[in-house]
Amino acid sequence: MTVRIGVLGAGFIARYHLAMLASARTPHEVVGIHDPDDAKAQALGRELDLPVLPSEEAVLDAADAVYVCTWTSEHPRLVAAAAAAGRAVFCEKPLAVDLAAARSMLADVRAAGVVHQVGLVLRDAPAMRLLRSLVHEPSSGPVMGVVFRDDQYLPVQGVYASDWRADKARAGAGTLLEHSIHDLDLLEWVIGPITSVTCRTEHQHAIDGIEDMAVVLATFAGGGVATLTSVWHDILARPSLRRIEVLCRDAMITAESDLWGPVRRQRDAGDLDLADDALRDELAARGLRLRNPDDGFLRAVRDGTVAAPGFEVAVRAHELLDACYRSAHAGGVPIDVPPAPDEEEP
Ligand SMILES: NC(=O)c1ccc[n+]([C@@H]2O[C@H](COP(=O)([O-])OP(=O)(O)OC[C@H]3O[C@@H](n4cnc5c(N)ncnc54)[C@H](O)[C@@H]3O)[C@@H](O)[C@H]2O)c1
Repeated sequence: MTVRIGVLGAGFIARYHLAMLASARTPHEVVGIHDPDDAKAQALGRELDLPVLPSEEAVLDAADAVYVCTWTSEHPRLVAAAAAAGRAVFCEKPLAVDLAAARSMLADVRAAGVVHQVGLVLRDAPAMRLLRSLVHEPSSGPVMGVVFRDDQYLPVQGVYASDWRADKARAGAGTLLEHSIHDLDLLEWVIGPITSVTCRTEHQHAIDGIEDMAVVLATFAGGGVATLTSVWHDILARPSLRRIEVLCRDAMITAESDLWGPVRRQRDAGDLDLADDALRDELAARGLRLRNPDDGFLRAVRDGTVAAPGFEVAVRAHELLDACYRSAHAGGVPIDVPPAPDEEEP
């Protein structure tokens, strides 16, 4: 079967997925892209030699599976339409501007029985896979503290150049929802279940409803505490950058970037310092497969199997975000979060 793919939205992340699809092995065809900004859709169509379709309905009619790559407030409506049409759906993160809408999207795809996947792509990032493996090595001992810094320039400029990220109605909120949904997901995926959060936010750019600074303190069920600092500044030389330090009882493990490292481990038994090819070799030695998440989605659509990460994973991240915002709105009080659901590893 050749999987027929339709794409809604012709912006930054649509371009990224089309590049990932181009390197996927599973037979597929991009049958069309649509964007109400027709000039943008036409430009992308010309550049990648892809058909541009006149409406959302035309995309749903032509495709077996749909990528929802629009600004966030449009995700729920488009996912509902795709599910109602029986189409598999890959939706970008955040699923929605709030937790209630994210939950109802999960209900929609479940009720329709369609394959679903979310763009929490950092679970497949090589440095994150190695970090997780090192943290869970018994010789590292228990996690004691995590220092997570995520910063980038305010993404209404530079490569993102998107006015909607400064519009609460379309973006929902600022750096914590739009960017650090990845980080909250990673904290649980790398370390373990979170039981409570405390959060403070600031709005130094004075954009209504769009926080540009958030600090989260998260407590893990298995012991240990993390701090996450998420900042949107104006340093154009700093696009999306993450640095994670995990202090375990017997090892200090650091990821200097989320993609190809370096990932470093310091412990009395000897040090590791791995980046690029060396990091790839270490993953292979540990039996950790590198995965193209878009190829994983195609395979799940073709075979009718479960795609990962699915909307359940995104809803859990939205639960954590919701607790963070409630904490921030209450001046930084600790908020308990519901127990994390059990997850099957892909
Ligand atoms: N997974 C990641 O790491 C990652 C990275 C960047 C963006 N994103 C997410 O992807 C989404 C899009 O972000 P972007 O950077 O591509 O934004 P963008 O501004 O570059 O593109 C969004 C496009 O959606 C179009 N659009 C709006 N309503 C539409 C509709 N009903 N049908 C079709 N197109 C429509 C807009 O005209 C615009 O061209 C956001 O939810 C964002 O949070 C995820």
